[in-house]
Amino acid sequence: MKLIVVGAGNIGLVTALCFAEKGNQVYCVDSDQPKINKLKSGETTLFEPQLDSLLATHLSKSNIHFSHQLDSFINQSDVILIMVGTPNNDAGEVDLTAIENVLNDILRLSVTALNSRSFTVKTIVLKSTVAPGTNIKLTAKYPNFNFISSPEFLREGSAIYDCLNPDRIIVGSASRQQSNAHPSSQAESDLKIIKKIYAGYKLSDDKFLPMDSVTAEMTKYAANIFLAARISLINEFSRVCEKAHADVEILKHALGLDRRLGSEYLNAGIGYGGSCFPKDIDAFLSYANSLNENLIITSAIRKTNDHQVKTFAARIANYFKAAGINSSEATLAIWGAAFKPETDDLRDAPALKLIDFLLAHNFKLNLYDPRATSGLKTLFKENPNVKIFENSYEALNTTHALIVATEWNEFKSANLKEIKKLLRKPVVFDGRNIFSPPIMRELGFEYFSVGRGFNEL
Ligand code: UDX
Repeated sequence: MKLIVVGAGNIGLVTALCFAEKGNQVYCVDSDQPKINKLKSGETTLFEPQLDSLLATHLSKSNIHFSHQLDSFINQSDVILIMVGTPNNDAGEVDLTAIENVLNDILRLSVTALNSRSFTVKTIVLKSTVAPGTNIKLTAKYPNFNFISSPEFLREGSAIYDCLNPDRIIVGSASRQQSNAHPSSQAESDLKIIKKIYAGYKLSDDKFLPMDSVTAEMTKYAANIFLAARISLINEFSRVCEKAHADVEILKHALGLDRRLGSEYLNAGIGYGGSCFPKDIDAFLSYANSLNENLIITSAIRKTNDHQVKTFAARIANYFKAAGINSSEATLAIWGAAFKPETDDLRDAPALKLIDFLLAHNFKLNLYDPRATSGLKTLFKENPNVKIFENSYEALNTTHALIVATEWNEFKSANLKEIKKLLRKPVVFDGRNIFSPPIMRELGFEYFSVGRGFNEL
């Protein structure tokens, strides 16, 4: 099938390439011309495992086409998937400007087509995360389009795997509102269109979940909030574990074996970040607020997440205070900055909160991240108290402690003896529990992790 994908960011680019991989002809548009030029020449614009090879394959097979203008592609397909960014405004509400710009563009081009009598109703598949009720609002404002709400659940770092192996495909139709028992012919046609888009996936029928558009839009928020809640809960337990001399890793294992709970999203650490959880929680709180609903647990998830990284940062500051070392004379090495491994994305990364706290306490910092070097340079190049390194061990040289902020595999397999040799004093603050406390103690480290007892700072 021929498909137009608008937006070539983390979600749009991956989805466009995955649709190409599944046998479609994909026309991908993004208004960022330099980005499009790079993509056309086979250069990826973000780090995501396997993205380079997928781009090279489908450019060479001519299954994927890029343009910075919709005009060149508009007649290629009547189905347009929108995956542009939906940031929050200052009030935490979802800003639809980028989506509306695309819709106005389509409208402009369709009106031109209408003059030449070749107008067909465009189906717009809304994959960007939007507040519940957006499909209905857009349907009222743009009656010439048929909107289908089909949010994406891709995780950065495993986005291609997730996109090629979806757990479920949401098909939200505005015309299904309050009539789930007897879907309208429009809702039935929406389901057919989505099944046609995913034909190459060979998914069983039960993977497609037709529903009303408000529930479809809410599914995305509910999924993210549930996952963030698990993380905040385990983080809360981690703090109690430390005081009670219990071990959050053993607790996690025991919880994970309970089939009602499952084992994912139970890693304690310095909290969640990224472009989705923090933004979506704010947007959903603001949406609920507009309905006069005060979401107690959802607001607490956010507070717990902020508290977790602050507690960890304060532990570091307290350690140096107790050791009688003036923070302005201490340099700390931080390994990891991206909000999680296998991405170069620094958006809302807990490491950045940690860095801000430590800089405010006058520490000097040596930073290293396997993929986020250029992002770190943009953020901290001008800061005389921050040095950015391209090698993890060089970042350690003569520093007063190592702090682990992201659990990259290369850190898990690091040479501990080498780390010890390079540090002035063997002190490690592990914000992602990647090392084993007995091994660290045996090697003579002062080792502080999250929720594994004996961290009385
Ligand atoms: C998330 C959702 O998983 C995805 O479905 C949605 O489409 C977008 O938001 P993403 O932000 O890419 O995806 O990352 P995810 O792997 O979910 O991790 C989010 C944050 O939680 C990261 O900062 C990660 O380090 C943290 N996390 C995750 C934990 O602290 N503990 C865990 O056990 C799992």
